[in-house]
Amino acid sequence: MATAMQPAEREKTPRAPQAMLDILARLIRNAQSGVPQMADSQASIPVDNYLSVERCQRERDVVFRRFPLIVGHDSELPEAGSTLRHDGLDLPMLLTRDGEGRVRAFLNVCRHRGMRLQKEQQCQRKTLVCPYHGWTYNLDGSLKHVPHDEFFPAMDKDDHGLTELPCEVKNGLIWVLPTPGEKIDVGEWLGSISDDLSYLGFDDFVQYRKTESLHDNNWKLIIDAFLEAYHVKVLHRNSVYPFFLDSMAISETVNRHMRSSVARRRIEEAASLPPEQWDFREHCSMTHFIFPNCITVNHPDYSSVLTFYPVAVDKMRWVHHMLIPAERNTEAEQTHWENTFNLIHETVFRAEDVDAAEQIQAGLASGANTDITLGRMEYTIRQFHESLQQALDEADQVRELSTL
Ligand code: FES
Ligand SMILES: [Fe+2]
Repeated sequence: MATAMQPAEREKTPRAPQAMLDILARLIRNAQSGVPQMADSQASIPVDNYLSVERCQRERDVVFRRFPLIVGHDSELPEAGSTLRHDGLDLPMLLTRDGEGRVRAFLNVCRHRGMRLQKEQQCQRKTLVCPYHGWTYNLDGSLKHVPHDEFFPAMDKDDHGLTELPCEVKNGLIWVLPTPGEKIDVGEWLGSISDDLSYLGFDDFVQYRKTESLHDNNWKLIIDAFLEAYHVKVLHRNSVYPFFLDSMAISETVNRHMRSSVARRRIEEAASLPPEQWDFREHCSMTHFIFPNCITVNHPDYSSVLTFYPVAVDKMRWVHHMLIPAERNTEAEQTHWENTFNLIHETVFRAEDVDAAEQIQAGLASGANTDITLGRMEYTIRQFHESLQQALDEADQVRELSTL
């Protein structure tokens, strides 16, 4: 299992990470002055970013292959022998917890003639048996048994283990870098974001619910929505806006990620409290953008991890992991969590944010806009698109160098 921090250890370090204290201090000052953080000027991005089939393919080939992606929660593989399918990418993937308790990721593809090894979403097993001819693999990916191995006199079994993908458990989440042979170091990749997640309780959360659904919009449109607070007053007028100040948020970049703090109305209380008493779930809403496709939203008593995958230029797969404190995963609280899930997932995220993304996608191809105009408050969207462009450009440079 993941090396979760023990409660006793955590109690010794109750202080919030300095970066979280700093961003909330700035947000309190902004809320008091009534002036949010803004860029010096407005900006624009081409509509083609959301319509180009070629661009979408490059994002899938480059951005969704070169960086660690969240593919599950540690608790989805509860014991040795647990397995989990992941099909968010156009790579069939299989996660296992091997006999040593280590989480591993493989291509869910038999090394004989390519059959999908596991069709079930999640199960418990001792070995992986291919349903076609019965080649059998251990949970560490090694090839254990080949029926009639006299049919394969020239084959070395050691060369026919499953194709493994770099994988790591960090902050309670399972991360995979979907390119075999690459090095994965999620701590280095996340930088100080990992400290935020630890402080917010991620290392000990349990997963209350996971949902997966397909929607008719480019995957970036929904990331855009979670990167700005300008829309909260209007789009979320009848749901969560009563808890927030209008357009009051701060974001800062960490590697290619972003740490954001959005002012809740209770931020006024924080102004009169010492920093040790600031509540990062009640005075503000902390969110993180984890490049390229994840958003964390930290609600008052639980957290959402949202991942978005491109299925086609105008279609995305959305996975929502709802994470709650382990000690509150009780029978008595089930109604509370069910109601909470329905409010945030169905009413706020699905019926408001995702619906808006689908409505925008439908309008983009009309030609009404050739560019998307971003106000000074929406600077984070520009930064996100620039980071993506940078990742694509870097890949082009590597490709050019390799052809010299
Ligand atoms: S394809 Fe898997 S055993 Fe033949
Ligand atoms: Fe929203």
